[in-house]
Amino acid sequence: MSMRLPAVVTDTAALREWRRSQVGSLGFVPTMGNLHRGHANLIERASAGNDVVAVSIFVNPLQFSPTEDFDRYPQTLEADRQLCAQLGVDIIFAPTPAALGLMARAGGDPQRTRVVPPESMTVGLCGRSRPGHFEGVTTIVMKLLNLLQPDRAYFGRKDAQQLAILQAMVRDLDLPVTIVPCSVVREPSGLALSSRNQYLRDADRERVAVLFQALQHAEAAVRDGEHDGTALTDRVRLHCATVPELDLEYVELVDPVSLAPLDRLERSGLLALAACLGSTRLIDNIVLETRSLIVIAIDGPAGAGKSTVTRAVADRLRLLYLDTGAMYRAATWLAMDAGVKLDDEAAIAKLVNDCDLDLQPQESGGCTVTMNDTDITAAIRTPEVTANVSTVAAQKAVREFLVRQQQAFGERGGLVAEGRDMCTCVFPNAEVKIFLTATPAERARRRARDLEAQGYEVDLEKLEAEIVERDRKDSTREIAPLRKAEDAVELVTDGMTIEEVIDRIIDLANDAQSA
Ligand code: PAF
Repeated sequence: MSMRLPAVVTDTAALREWRRSQVGSLGFVPTMGNLHRGHANLIERASAGNDVVAVSIFVNPLQFSPTEDFDRYPQTLEADRQLCAQLGVDIIFAPTPAALGLMARAGGDPQRTRVVPPESMTVGLCGRSRPGHFEGVTTIVMKLLNLLQPDRAYFGRKDAQQLAILQAMVRDLDLPVTIVPCSVVREPSGLALSSRNQYLRDADRERVAVLFQALQHAEAAVRDGEHDGTALTDRVRLHCATVPELDLEYVELVDPVSLAPLDRLERSGLLALAACLGSTRLIDNIVLETRSLIVIAIDGPAGAGKSTVTRAVADRLRLLYLDTGAMYRAATWLAMDAGVKLDDEAAIAKLVNDCDLDLQPQESGGCTVTMNDTDITAAIRTPEVTANVSTVAAQKAVREFLVRQQQAFGERGGLVAEGRDMCTCVFPNAEVKIFLTATPAERARRRARDLEAQGYEVDLEKLEAEIVERDRKDSTREIAPLRKAEDAVELVTDGMTIEEVIDRIIDLANDAQSA
């Protein structure tokens, strides 16, 4: 199958003309080329969130000092174009420095306007050894944003200082674009992907993996209660010292937004480092949180074990377990208890809007569910409620009311939530999204075991048929139908133990937190 190669535009007039011809949202990924999996991740995020995707490839002289690697920076336009084609990129903007009027190196051309980031954000971290670098970045990114006028622009978290500075620029200058930060993509060794990694020999790649390990040591120390800035940076230094060939340029703990140095980790801190191995300079970072603010959303079909798994993940990570299934069951119970017909949407809408529903974490994990001050934790688990929950949950007013409540919990962060549309509708921006599923036969077997343990008699075939029917209903209903979010991780749990499923989700959460 032949792929359509994206057009490569090299001059600004043609680019502006292309931009004028585009309708729909534009996602923009600025790069310096030599694209790798880290860039592919940015492009994938851009195409998932926009109608059209543009990539720029421009090795920006303004961000290199005369002693840096501008002249040998890898340039691989044809390979980059192939990768862009595979990823469905619509256009590549690859100007020459002259086409952009940018011939000077870091520090810029004094005859031309530059965009100067706040000094407080450039004095530390990489700014200390790279004078003029971030001014070069803000100036080129401002130019590119003006030329492309994207709705969203995508940047990796590996360049955390760059990201914070660009976010400040967009905020301070009211630029009409949303900056979308994307996770660090790593090699299996933990080494963060970078175009500069190709300067490294194989043996060196193994050595530099120590950088991320050192950051993870500090993260583990935070989990053990260490919040002192110097103690944390010392840990990193000590660990990096196990590879004497590494020349550590800095290790700093700063505020992730303002980049101000932190003596102590209060809530959240960016622990960042730079090191050289020979002439190759590498950077990496990790965001440390005293309390995890991560949101983990788990959806998938009924009976896939979502609530058991969610409860266990919440418990292990000390996060709030937001039992949204229980919220829908509570609304169903409310309607049944009031004796209204379950298809009387108006009556049910009135009931839910007037009700007082609360979820309180239990010591033993899980939540106590109260409805108008009555404890209904057990009452919502009967087979009668189970049989009706789909009908009630599909109603617009019920859903809108409960989604508002769930999102309010999500704003505070630090929770695991499960429900049929968690990843697609309720928490589309959750750090971790899982589509948890199993075949209907497997789900029927598990449900039968549960019911038998509660003393009910079960007909396995009937159960399986009910599950198939419920999947059908759930995936064809008009409001929030059951479907996997494009960027969710699908976990098919047939043949996996619950512990294996939980471990896998915790791994994904840890990856997301260190990204
Ligand atoms: O991160 C990069 O590759 C560059 O700094 C950027 C944002 C493309 C500006 O030249």
